[in-house]
Amino acid sequence: MQGFESEEHERSIWQALKAQAVPLKFAYAGSAAHTHNRLASRSSYQSVATAIDAEIRATLKLLDPNVTGLSICEVGPGNGTHTVAFLRTLYQAGTSVLNYLGLDFSRELLSILERQLAQDEPRLPVHVDTWDFEAEPTTAIDSWRSSSKPVLILMIGHTIGNPYSPLACLKNIFLSSRPGDGLVLSAMLRGTQPVADLVKPYLDSVFIAAALEPLRMGGLNISEGSFHVRWEESTSAIIGEFVLSNDQRISYREETIVFSAGSIIRCFLSRRFQQNDIATLLSDAGWLIKDNCLSHDESHLAVAAFRPKPPV
Ligand SMILES: C[S@@+](CC[C@H](N)C(=O)[O-])C[C@H]1O[C@@H](n2cnc3c(N)ncnc32)[C@H](O)[C@@H]1O
Repeated sequence: MQGFESEEHERSIWQALKAQAVPLKFAYAGSAAHTHNRLASRSSYQSVATAIDAEIRATLKLLDPNVTGLSICEVGPGNGTHTVAFLRTLYQAGTSVLNYLGLDFSRELLSILERQLAQDEPRLPVHVDTWDFEAEPTTAIDSWRSSSKPVLILMIGHTIGNPYSPLACLKNIFLSSRPGDGLVLSAMLRGTQPVADLVKPYLDSVFIAAALEPLRMGGLNISEGSFHVRWEESTSAIIGEFVLSNDQRISYREETIVFSAGSIIRCFLSRRFQQNDIATLLSDAGWLIKDNCLSHDESHLAVAAFRPKPPV
């Protein structure tokens, strides 16, 4: 696929370019889904595998021994590489999965996920739907549920590190769930690495092509500029920015934007959390934490939480 997934995405990227801050969700949609897929299929991205053991331990904490078979709803599943690895490890732990719902901003990425699951999990009933979890709650989970049994919601692979407001996302997921539903959230921790080590994985050409794809789709000539990453202490995040080396002009419908040489467009954000930040975010969004599971190298935290039932 070349370009945008929809006119709405095209309009939103235009507005974001005007504001010189492009939300990361656009780096997964339209033709950017394929640059992300290349990135996610590389062996270095398999570092997500580090988190799986903690994610499975967190999942097992939430299981009701009287219930067989899980209904899993995954929010932000990406291309399915992590999903397949997670499901296989879960089966090895003796848990069966009855059905699966994948919700993502990107229709294109959901198609890649569907193909991956059809190939690797041919017997698993799979449904997918689009949802922007930064914007509002969704009714997709309720429409998909096949019984009154609780659903396990997964948000794994550090997806929570990408949005501008992680709290708004966790509230939207909460409002889209039902009392009794579980949530396994996994995220990368700040740890004690020097800043140079934090930014190093973001300096290679496959990552840079993926981060700049929405700008290219919006009409910028990305060969006339450079991509920089830096650590921003105030947001506790790795920030990626494109700096134009020459003046550039882009147009959409009747409008034109002129960027002068030296203009900066923010297009990447990946937060790192402290364990306490995650606990606060989850409880401020309404979730009750059942357990915290650290990965063996302590780089990732997986939290088992659930939506409490209202008192009767
Ligand atoms: C960092 S990737 C993680 C993918 C996968 N969980 C993994 O571990 O490989 C983030 C995922 O969240 C999705 N995403 C990002 N922003 C989103 C938004 N606002 N609403 C819905 N999905 C979003 C992306 O399309 C992508 O699938």
